Amino acid sequence: HKCVAKVKKYLKPFLLSQEKLQEISARLKKNMIQGLGKHTHHKAPVKMLPTFVRATPDGTEKGDFLALDLGGTNFRVLYVRVMEEEQKVLKMDSQICAIPQDIMRGTGEQLFDHIAACLADFLDSQNLKGQTLPLGFTFSFPCEQIEIDKSILIHWTKGFSCSEVEGKDVVKLLRDAIHRRADYDIGSVAMVNDTVGTMMSCGYKDQSCEIGMIIGTGTNACYMEEMKNVKRVEGEDGRMCINTEWGGFGDDGSLEDIQTQFDVVVDKTSINPGIHIFEKMISGMYLGEIVRLLLVKLTEDKLLFKGKTSEALLTPGRFETRFISEIEEQDRGLKNCQNILTELGLKWDSVDVRLVRLVCDTVSIRSAHLCAAALATIVNRIRENRGLDYLKTTVGVDGTVYRKHPNFSDKLQAMVHRLAPNCSITFLVSEDGSGKGAAMVTAVAQRQALSHLLEDSDSDRKEDEEEDK
Ligand code: BGC
Repeated sequence: HKCVAKVKKYLKPFLLSQEKLQEISARLKKNMIQGLGKHTHHKAPVKMLPTFVRATPDGTEKGDFLALDLGGTNFRVLYVRVMEEEQKVLKMDSQICAIPQDIMRGTGEQLFDHIAACLADFLDSQNLKGQTLPLGFTFSFPCEQIEIDKSILIHWTKGFSCSEVEGKDVVKLLRDAIHRRADYDIGSVAMVNDTVGTMMSCGYKDQSCEIGMIIGTGTNACYMEEMKNVKRVEGEDGRMCINTEWGGFGDDGSLEDIQTQFDVVVDKTSINPGIHIFEKMISGMYLGEIVRLLLVKLTEDKLLFKGKTSEALLTPGRFETRFISEIEEQDRGLKNCQNILTELGLKWDSVDVRLVRLVCDTVSIRSAHLCAAALATIVNRIRENRGLDYLKTTVGVDGTVYRKHPNFSDKLQAMVHRLAPNCSITFLVSEDGSGKGAAMVTAVAQRQALSHLLEDSDSDRKEDEEEDK
């Protein structure tokens, strides 16, 4: 018992009260406004990037599309056929290509050649090489979007660090790579962040879905903002989907009060120190490492494993985030914990097992609560934007942490409910947002381009008529 009390002291900085979360939400709100502002954007840590997606699906979308999905450890290519009548995806074939570490950290040209080669293999296998299909590119990194088909990478996150890509138009890099091969071509391209794909794929099913959220390797959310508040894009009418890039919250030092010594180490030893501080307290790429650092410290201070560490425990990255989910499983958690500790070469007793579980619990609850604070900021904003006393809305969600952890979603939902009491939120787990969602964005973009064209030719015709008079 003495031991438990001592360990709890180490865990205390991870416990965030509801008041603290409210304060964090208020800070994020300020940051979001700063990110949207014309003259404040350049120094805003939360980038609030316009996506040029102005509408969610209306159910009339149809056609054949290719989709690419780059954002985690794997790269996927998909062929998606969307049918109008049944409002559903008729067919979806896909292929996964691994992205080896040396390509994740190599040159941009190597990366895009690899992508173009995977796409070529896939088109061959589907007999599609002769066609020029429109393509939705789910590229899950912060990009300054100039148009739906022009998107400049601001910086890499989540373990990628290819040279010569930051500051460049990703669509051009892709097209150049395809043209270098010269054995096939692609049609129009729509660039999609995974949050946007998630929102759009859920929006096809539930038209009140106007938020997309990812809690996986990285974390982020997007939502439909009023155009009049999107100061960096011309026009006052309607809405546009904004990719918040909330992972960057804290990059100006504003979260120092809640960062623990372990968060500081995780950031300093990452390949992008100082970038995506909020993400590093929340997402799958980092949670395991936070737990590992805590366990190392508790062992050093003789509160675990009788003070005897192991080589595995001392190795960065060896405590995987999926272990946390396994250890927190309701029935098999303690057994899983024993197996994991044994595999890490540690000699444990029953108190150690319980303490390790407590550490995992604490770290994952903090993550869920921080996400809740951020999501509450968004739903409260949408409600205020529309002058409503009460908002009913739907969030499309995806990501391994949200999907796989046994009680993450419950903890998150309970806290959002407390932080946004005037909102009722339906959570929809997205079915393949980065495939289907990317196709949806491409389809909506085509529908809108077409209606613009028609409007233009309409006004041309009117002008002609005027002149004729
Ligand atoms: C990226 C976002 C992305 C998120 C989830 C973050 O690291 O910056 O663009 O949406 O990860 O994949």
